[in-house]
Amino acid sequence: MTATVLAGFRPRRLAHVNLFVSDLGRSLEFYTTVCGLTPVFEEPGIATVFLSNGNSHHDLALMEISEQARVGRDGNVQVSRGRGRAAGLNHLGWELASEAELVDAIRRVRATGARLHRTVDHQISHSAYLFDPDGTYLEMYADASDDWHAVYAENSGRLITGNWDPEGAPADPRERFTADPDYTVVDGAALHPLCTARACLAVADLDSALDFYHRLGGLTVLRSGPEGAVLGGTLGLPDLTLLRAGDGLEPGLSHFGLRLREEADLAAGAARAAAAGVEPVATVDAAHKKSVVLRDPDGVLVEFLVPSDPTATLPVPRPAARFAA
Ligand SMILES: [Fe+2]
Repeated sequence: MTATVLAGFRPRRLAHVNLFVSDLGRSLEFYTTVCGLTPVFEEPGIATVFLSNGNSHHDLALMEISEQARVGRDGNVQVSRGRGRAAGLNHLGWELASEAELVDAIRRVRATGARLHRTVDHQISHSAYLFDPDGTYLEMYADASDDWHAVYAENSGRLITGNWDPEGAPADPRERFTADPDYTVVDGAALHPLCTARACLAVADLDSALDFYHRLGGLTVLRSGPEGAVLGGTLGLPDLTLLRAGDGLEPGLSHFGLRLREEADLAAGAARAAAAGVEPVATVDAAHKKSVVLRDPDGVLVEFLVPSDPTATLPVPRPAARFAA
């Protein structure tokens, strides 16, 4: 990839995954008791729950599917009628360092002629949303509070999302993301992840997707080959794997990853998950990571991973070994 001046968003890292689920109660049970994530906020009006172990205001959001539009406070349409009727990925959430960086990026991206879908005030964050070439929905956000616990407490049981005009007020230059997480643990859960760490997307046209995520997403290409690529935000982590779709791999989310603290958690956690009736669908034992993959109640694949050697060379991803990267 030739060096180019990136017009895009330049997020620090992938911070959360938002899923549409067919049965909120069933998925919440799976993600708490098996996956070990802590529910931290609920929006009953739109059948949504946020889960976090302290890394940020949410590592995962679960929104129940519906035939109807999901409307936030101030009449803000969060999910239009027609979207979110089937289980699967709603969006990937990417964290920028500050609102000032986000607003600068919005201006740069709009200047390229690229279209943003909407801009939103979630109170915990200010966000811009856009679609990738395959229609995968992305959120680029910056935290709008130093204390997301307090925002959740002040808004208990209420809708939190409204409209946001990025040009409506001077952009806040403060870096308000959680820099030093105080991690929580779900007692009795099979696994005990720290945070969301990865996503893997199958893409119809690898070159178009690479161009989009590098140029507009502002991600750095860490590894690439004829069948896939690994990209990362400014922290240099391998946040995103792209795989060429085909041979049964449809465009869209292949799987997402939750990072564990240490390898011992992985083997013991996988055994506890199996004892709870959730058998691993894949395991990886490589120089750069160890992982176990579980299937959630809607069929979404969740990889629990421990990066094992930061100096190990990342493999070039291939669809035939979709969990290898
Ligand atoms: Fe989000």
